[in-house]
Amino acid sequence: MPLTHTKDLFAKALKGKYALGAFNVNNMELLQAIIEACEEEKAPVMLQISKGARQYANPVYLRKLIEAAVSLSNIPIAVHLDHGDSYELCKECIDEGFTSVMIDASHESFEKNVEICRQVVEYAHKHNCVVEGELGMLVGAQHDDGEEGGGYSKGGCYTHPDEAVKFVKESGVDSLAVAIGNSHGAYKFKGEQHLDLERLKAIKKALLDAGMGDYPLVLHGASSVPKDLVTEINKYGGKMGEETAGVPEADIEIARRVGCTKVNIDTDLRLAMTAAIRKAFFENPKEFDPRKYLAPARTKVKELVRHKVRDVLCCAGHAFD
Ligand code: G3H
Ligand code: 13P
Ligand code: ZN
Repeated sequence: MPLTHTKDLFAKALKGKYALGAFNVNNMELLQAIIEACEEEKAPVMLQISKGARQYANPVYLRKLIEAAVSLSNIPIAVHLDHGDSYELCKECIDEGFTSVMIDASHESFEKNVEICRQVVEYAHKHNCVVEGELGMLVGAQHDDGEEGGGYSKGGCYTHPDEAVKFVKESGVDSLAVAIGNSHGAYKFKGEQHLDLERLKAIKKALLDAGMGDYPLVLHGASSVPKDLVTEINKYGGKMGEETAGVPEADIEIARRVGCTKVNIDTDLRLAMTAAIRKAFFENPKEFDPRKYLAPARTKVKELVRHKVRDVLCCAGHAFD
């Protein structure tokens, strides 16, 4: 089975009201874990490759690994560039056959962000690829609340509903990554905090009211940083800080129901892999065959992905809709 186009996966996810897991791939074991879990759970999946992954593994190795995954499995698989930081990188990935790219110019002014996205969209759309843009900054759950009277302040870090509409219209991006209190990594919040889900609803509604239909939104920084994984890492010699915190899975479920079509998860995979490797090293200090620690690491990642697609994103069972 060849790659499935991102736009087809999005259309089905929007119709079926489930979210697609977009899992970061950096090596063979991560890829195998993701694919095996999704295959067993009959879940469509998005594999995403960052610039760092391309530097680490080499784009050709990654492409060949994904080709192997596609030929050995029968689930729909799309390939996406995560956080593309330039037109040139996006173009390279489009030319390599990625089904979607993200151009992340969210650190630029609104106008510059639109301009850079517009350039990528023009090239992508001519070459059968779709584009994700980002508006707002992923600063975590600081206070960027709604104003009195239900409005939202402009110029803050979070995505403003009206600006989201203007951005999508002017840039032509096919999906939008939003900033609603989400952030990357294992230290997202101080204590337990929540996403601004009311704002997410307002963004979705503003896009609908502006005639953009059921427009696909993307949630970056969606790892939940499970405490048991952090505990296991520290039990076997790790030194992760006490203040680790992720997005509560209940928030992700609401985000999915409100209309986040693509949910990005990387950190949780890293935690699962690290926990299993540390445990194997601790329990078998004489062992030096990499397969003896990479196999349990792969299994641990696989179980994590299974949980996400089945219990959180609800895309399990939708591979052949
Ligand atoms: O959002 C970033 C992803 O977790 C990818 O991270 O740039 O270290 O590969 P990376
Ligand atoms: P996490 O760090 O929460 O896994 O987010 C990953 C991500 O957003 C990749 O783009
Ligand atoms: Zn991200």
